[in-house]
Formats: sequence, structure tokens, C-alpha cells
Amino acid sequence: MNNLATLRNEDRNEAKGVQRIRRLPDPTLGALWDSIILDAALKEQLLSQAVLNFTLRSKVDRTVLPLHGAILLVGPPGTGKTSLARGLAHRTAASFRTKDFRLLEVEPHALTSSAMGKTQRAVTDLFAQSIAEAAAAGPTIVLLDEVETLAADRSKLSLEANPVDIHRATDAVLVQLDALADDYPNLLFLATSNFPQAVDSAFTSRCDLVVNVALPDRDACGRILEDCLAGLGKTFPAIGKLVSSPKFDQCAAECMGLDGRAIRKMVATALASSPETAARPERVTIDDLLTAARATKAGRKMGDKAP
Ligand SMILES: Nc1ncnc2c1ncn2[C@@H]1O[C@H](COP(=O)(O)OP(=O)(O)OP(=O)(O)O)[C@@H](O)[C@H]1O
Ligand SMILES: [Mg+2]
Repeated sequence: MNNLATLRNEDRNEAKGVQRIRRLPDPTLGALWDSIILDAALKEQLLSQAVLNFTLRSKVDRTVLPLHGAILLVGPPGTGKTSLARGLAHRTAASFRTKDFRLLEVEPHALTSSAMGKTQRAVTDLFAQSIAEAAAAGPTIVLLDEVETLAADRSKLSLEANPVDIHRATDAVLVQLDALADDYPNLLFLATSNFPQAVDSAFTSRCDLVVNVALPDRDACGRILEDCLAGLGKTFPAIGKLVSSPKFDQCAAECMGLDGRAIRKMVATALASSPETAARPERVTIDDLLTAARATKAGRKMGDKAP
């Protein structure tokens, strides 16, 4: 099959719950990995665990090392978990130049929005068919975003509020994870969740590594802001120069408590601080950024107090 035909087949995505299939490595995802500012040791730990999955699991018996081929990223919304997981998929594949990796992105909501009683079937089909087929064809990484939707903590579900269906879906995920871990050593799940307390503990226990992606600290806030302004500086040089403003540090300090997404959105808020600035974004000032950072934080606090 020529390349075009292969790609067309990949784009055709009939498997329910598989949102997208990508070939790896993919430099676009590499840029994501670089854009997420995080403790370098944590990034290294993630990459090492992911690489080990592919070097070790096919060679060492699971009775010796009971690895499941799953990594879980937990942390508040907007801290870069999904971007990191996609970037990690790229970096992992790039470490094995000779192999042909694929990334399957799963959309859990597509499975649970099935008609009542069908979720368990949809989960089983996804894992036992779509994922198993991909893993049989070559090294495969599966992104399970918002995994609490699929592997909900059964101990916290009340039967009235949460249908039996969800219990069965969680059971099915666990059964399938065990089966796939036995049969496919060249498979790695990258799961993310905003609500670690909502993820079933039997799922978490199966993860080979659980990483907490926290809100950025003071230094990271500064680096995210700098990265964002420098990126804008490529189009609007005056914006890039704000990084060397005497008030830059104060502005970075104002971002403390915000997640990375909120910091980048705050910059957009500053660019929209007046119709004039919106029309000519290079007019944005460091004071506009300070005001936007304070307003974003105040907005967050009000949001926290809302019932
Ligand atoms: N630590 C960070 N460094 C740089 N940018 C960040 C960081 N955290 C988040 N961002 C920015 O925020 C955006 C959102 O990130 P992403 O969607 O990966 O977060 P998430 O943790 O998956 O969020 P959610 O939990 O809401 O799904 C990214 O495009 C990225 O630009
Ligand atoms: Mg996400």
C-alpha cells in the first residue's frame, strides 16, 4: 500500500471512541512537549518510564515486574496534562527511530454517551478490538483523556445517581487493561484526569507511574509568560520586548495561583484591554498585563466562591 492509501485508511476512523489516529513521531506534538514548562526532572521521569515500557515489557515476565503499560497524569485543569501526554507520545516514539509507532486518541464521552446498558459493550469493543488491533500491528500509544469518565471510582458511585452502566464500564476497563497488558507489551496508555479522587483506585493501582502535574510555581509562571510574550513577539516585536520590562517580574508574580492555560489566556485579555489595542496588539503595555493578571485572579476567586 502506498503512503497515501495508508494515511487514508488511518483517517477513516470508524471505531467508536477512537477520535484520532496519528503516526509517530510527529514534530507538531514535539512542539507541545517543549511548550509545557514543568520541572525538568518530572519530564525526564515521564519520558524514562514511557521508554522503559517499550524496552522492557516484551522481555521480562509480568510475574517478575507486573507492569500494565499505563501512566496517569493528574492535576488541576489547564496545567498541560493533555499537551504533555501528546508530547510524550512523540518523544517516546522518537527514542526508537526504527519503529513505526501510532497514537490513538480516545474520546471517553463518546463511549459513555451510548444508550443505557451499552457503555460496557462500547468499552470492551474499543479495548478488545480497536486498541488490540492497533497494538498487534505495531507499537501503540493510547491517550485516555479524562479517564475518570471511563474508570469512575465505583466506591463513590451511588446507584441512584450513577447507573449500573458506569460500574460495569469501570469493570470492563480493568478487565481489558489486564488482558491487554498480558498480550501486548508494545502498548502504552497515557491517561489524564482532573479529578484523581474520582478515578477508581483499582485503575490507579494498575498505573506504572502516577504523576502529579501541579499549578506552576513562581519561576514557572515567569517562564510561561515569557514563552507566550516571546511567541507573540515573532509577529509583534514590541510585545516580545515586554519580557525585559522592569515590571515583568511583578507581572509574573501576579500570575501565581493561575494555571498555564489561564496565564496564556490572561495575555489575550490584555491584548483585548481596549478596542484600540485589539486593533493594534503591539500597543499592549506591561500595565495592561498587570491589570489583566489581577482581573483573572479576582475572577478565579469569585468562581471559587460560587455555589
Ligand atoms: N506548564 C505549562 N507551561 C506552558 N503552557 C502551559 C502549561 N500548562 C498549561 N499550558 C497551556 O495551557 C493550554 C492547555 O493545556 P492542556 O489542555 O494540555 O491542559 P490540561 O491539563 O489537559 O487541561 P484540562 O485538565 O482542562 O484538560 C496549553 O495549550 C498550554 O499552552
Ligand atoms: Mg486535558
